[in-house]
Amino acid sequence: MHPSVGLSMARHAPDEGIELGGKFIPRGYRIGMNPAVVHYDKNVFGRDADEYRPERWLVSEEERKVMDKHILTFGAGTRTCIGKNVSRLSQVSETDCWRLICADITGRGSYARP
Ligand code: HEM
Repeated sequence: MHPSVGLSMARHAPDEGIELGGKFIPRGYRIGMNPAVVHYDKNVFGRDADEYRPERWLVSEEERKVMDKHILTFGAGTRTCIGKNVSRLSQVSETDCWRLICADITGRGSYARP
């Protein structure tokens, strides 16, 4: 509901320029997406996009995939947040963290999100 970043995360158009949404952006121009705008897109997150309803992620696999593609909490692409997995781990219990780390290291066991 409250995007982590309320500003456009700027990138620069490449030397050859780039076409986005049917418009040509010349080289060097700053372009970016603002999570505070994208996260309220009703076409993606539903008519109640402005309501706190985390259950929306559990309704359908198809909708989840579309929302996952548009979520910008940690940015996206090559400059995505390198701390996002650490941050996500800090949201689960210590025991869950160790289970996940052990399953990752040994390739044994499994981890289900709480
Ligand atoms: C809830 C916690 C956090 C949030 C919401 C967050 C969010 C973000 C966002 C939105 C970006 C910009 C990505 C982009 O431009 O596409 C970013 C970049 C970055 N974050 Fe985080 N971050 C978090 C925690 C962390 C932590 C714990 C670390 C380090 C351990 C970290 C390190 C970085 C770095 C180094 C970048 C720059 C990456 C680059 O430009 O290549 N972040 N983060």
